Amino acid sequence: GAGGNAGGDSGGRCNGTAPQDGGEAGPKGPDQLEGPGTAQNDSLHLKRRVGLVSGVALIVGTMIGSGIFVSPSGLLERTGSIGMSFVIWMACGLLSLLGALSYAELGTMNTSSGAEYAYFMDAFGAPPAFLFSWASTLVLKPSQMAIICLSFGKYAVEAFVTECEPPDIVVKMVALLAMVVILYVNCYSVNLATSVQNVFTAAKLVAVLIVIMGGAYKMFEGNTQHLKEPFKDTQFSIGNIATAFYTGLWAYDGWNNLNYVTEEIKNPSKNLPRSIVIGIPLVTVCYALINVSYLTVMSPMEMATSEAVAVTFGNRVLGVMSWLMPLSVTISTFGSANGTLFAAGRLCFAASREGHLLDILSYVHVRRYTPAPGLVFHSIIAGAMVMYGTIDSLIDFFSFTAWIFYGGAMVALIMMRYTKPNYPRPYKVPIIIPYLVLVISIYLIIGPIVDKPTIEYLYASFFILGGMVFYVPFVHYKLRIPYMDGVTVFLQMLFEVAPTTSMFD
Ligand code: ARG
Repeated sequence: GAGGNAGGDSGGRCNGTAPQDGGEAGPKGPDQLEGPGTAQNDSLHLKRRVGLVSGVALIVGTMIGSGIFVSPSGLLERTGSIGMSFVIWMACGLLSLLGALSYAELGTMNTSSGAEYAYFMDAFGAPPAFLFSWASTLVLKPSQMAIICLSFGKYAVEAFVTECEPPDIVVKMVALLAMVVILYVNCYSVNLATSVQNVFTAAKLVAVLIVIMGGAYKMFEGNTQHLKEPFKDTQFSIGNIATAFYTGLWAYDGWNNLNYVTEEIKNPSKNLPRSIVIGIPLVTVCYALINVSYLTVMSPMEMATSEAVAVTFGNRVLGVMSWLMPLSVTISTFGSANGTLFAAGRLCFAASREGHLLDILSYVHVRRYTPAPGLVFHSIIAGAMVMYGTIDSLIDFFSFTAWIFYGGAMVALIMMRYTKPNYPRPYKVPIIIPYLVLVISIYLIIGPIVDKPTIEYLYASFFILGGMVFYVPFVHYKLRIPYMDGVTVFLQMLFEVAPTTSMFD
């Protein structure tokens, strides 16, 4: 379906107009780590507009999405006991923090946007970086977007139909509508997108607070019966624990979100690590308290079978205000989708700037400074996934692919400590941390395969490696697709976009 079409376009490169030399994403000296105002003023650039607050909002507001409102059931089902579930929820938070601290080193060392893409380019060279951009533009980022928008649609529609399951097609249409609105916001202006992110993050924190206070109130009333004997019925199997992790880690995914937009952060060497250290523990604490809250009003059994725990919770605690819960989930998912698209556009931008995807995807709107073509491209693929996919089918699959690359980033970090010992590292993570994250990601990749080998994991691996089929002719040998230059110029005028000046010149 969508993958095939879009893949066919990938890799075409129009050499004529691109100012960048397609060269290496090299390190930048400390002088370039500065905020706005250094030698970049008059050229066309994405501007540095993300400060500490927006940085934290981009992390927290993306991480808190649909997961915490739906995953607790799945996690409980896979572990058998609330105690074990809780341990996994916390372990996921810790893992995200350790991963993000490692990304803080990578992101302050190489301050170009695109996260893994930029780090792979530095550490391993072009082919692995290409495979990452290939897999993430065609699968990872759009599937995140699709899962979140589908959850949005589900809750938005559920608020209106009470009697029956909402019709699938309506949910999908609402999901697409949300996607179009978010696309518009992000193409319109970076300031608007970050403002939306800030406002929605604040709103969702209020929603989280409502759940926590509701839970605290119930607890003081003495509803602690479900919290006794937390480890009763725990199930132990390597594969189950790994897939339970997948469910939990989906709720935490987005911990690396700020690394995609480093070029737009004011003073990244300070604000990137700070945002990480504030954002991720904040999310972890929220998730812990929410989980306890849920259990004050429902038994583990009810929790495992509930279609939407947050809504069940709302119905039991909020009385006439119970409509607040589906509303909160729609707000939360909308904000998370906004943050996801924001980052996805930058990734596309960074990879195509190096000649790894179509050139047009790296262009920026001449007046609005938004990477509009990349955003539109992502949304088209995500839209196709919304039409043909389901939430559950996408999640395990997503995590498997994602952790291959998160693990890869740890290898990049460790390797560069040896190969590039003299790079400036404004933030240096204790080296044990990336090793630990690497070992866990290997377990997360292998665990489910060993436990229950399904053909999908094989497909995913083949798909990633299959990118080489496009890499060799179009990127390595710079084979040009006939008429591509004309198409690029046409699209350039249509979108009113122009190439940017490379940060590396
Ligand atoms: N954690 C979010 C949720 O619970 C999903 C975040 C998607 N990932 C991302 N990098 N944008 O729905």
